[in-house]
Amino acid sequence: MKKYFFLLLIVVLISIYYFLRNPMGVDKNSSLISINKTEFGTLKNGTVVYKYTLENKIGTKVSIITYGGIITNLKTFNKSGALEDIVLGYNSLEEYIKESPYFGAIVGRYGNRISKGKFSINGKEYNLVRNDGQNHLHGGNIGFDKVIWDATTQTDKNSASLILSYTSGDMEEGYPGNLETKVIYTLNNENSIEVLYEAITDKPTIINLTQHSYFNLSGDFSESILDHEVKINANAFLPVDKTLIPTGEIVNVESTPFDFRKFKRIGKDINFENEQLIIGNGYDHCWVLNDYGTMRFVAAAYHSRSGRFLEVYSDEPGMQFYSGNFLDGTLPRRDEGYYGNRSGFCFETQHYPNSPNNKEFPSVVLKPNELYTSKTTFHFSLK
Ligand code: GLA
Repeated sequence: MKKYFFLLLIVVLISIYYFLRNPMGVDKNSSLISINKTEFGTLKNGTVVYKYTLENKIGTKVSIITYGGIITNLKTFNKSGALEDIVLGYNSLEEYIKESPYFGAIVGRYGNRISKGKFSINGKEYNLVRNDGQNHLHGGNIGFDKVIWDATTQTDKNSASLILSYTSGDMEEGYPGNLETKVIYTLNNENSIEVLYEAITDKPTIINLTQHSYFNLSGDFSESILDHEVKINANAFLPVDKTLIPTGEIVNVESTPFDFRKFKRIGKDINFENEQLIIGNGYDHCWVLNDYGTMRFVAAAYHSRSGRFLEVYSDEPGMQFYSGNFLDGTLPRRDEGYYGNRSGFCFETQHYPNSPNNKEFPSVVLKPNELYTSKTTFHFSLK
């Protein structure tokens, strides 16, 4: 009898413990991960653009719209507990349509430049739209940053996902093949945003998708990003010609302003008398990331006053580090004023620019019956 009483007591105590920890019996994590959908605007043809806001248990919030798959807002806490936006963007759809330097967008079919818009597959030459002087840039006039994506959502205990799909028709912007594309944004309770890209084609084609968020970890867009410290896991970078097309050389970063193997202020060397910095008007180059072939650490940025620390992981061979050199104080900020020169930086994980015309670079060709995949994770923390 005594034995049963003792067992019963243990069961009662365990039940009280669990009741006190979680009185309503709800799954705490799943109740704290959420997705909220609202209307963001309407296109001239009547299509409604939606905004999805994903929030995790820490309180990080990321908003993505179905136009361009654009990350319009990304709010994280600073070390004093203030929740602030850390990506450049606008408040309205009209502003994105009017003029945007790819703020927060999905870029495709080919992120970055293709020389003279020309490339060949199996001996057949294709001519893409030339929308950057004589070159093709970021998918053309109506790239993936300007199309409407279908959206569905999915949540589980520790993550919330927005699944975006878009089918690009055969010869759209000059690219061969019907390309079925999926981009899955996932925010998780570890405070990471994972971007997973997938695509299939019905004809041999080329593809190089990326994400074009401009970060300013200070949370204050009146500040430049020059005091952010950056680290890039790359021993080499790709020098470019005057039209920002890689020359084909792979140059060691040692003793150059392009050496970010250890944390360095973006502003430290950016104004050096250096031919490549003059051509790019700052950093606008592709770094040849170490250890291609696995998902690994590729870059980090740290802003000491806010304490915000961003780490990037990717399976891509390259990363365009762009220091916002074309921002010229004419695009309106969300709060007040205008986005000044170098008020945001981009970490665009991708294959190398102009790869279709350089046999030495990893291939960007996608064939029917193959699955294109690419993955990049942005992790946020405080230091
Ligand atoms: C990329 C390019 C830059 C510029 C921006 C958009 O980062 O490398 O040269 O075109 O996109 O303004």
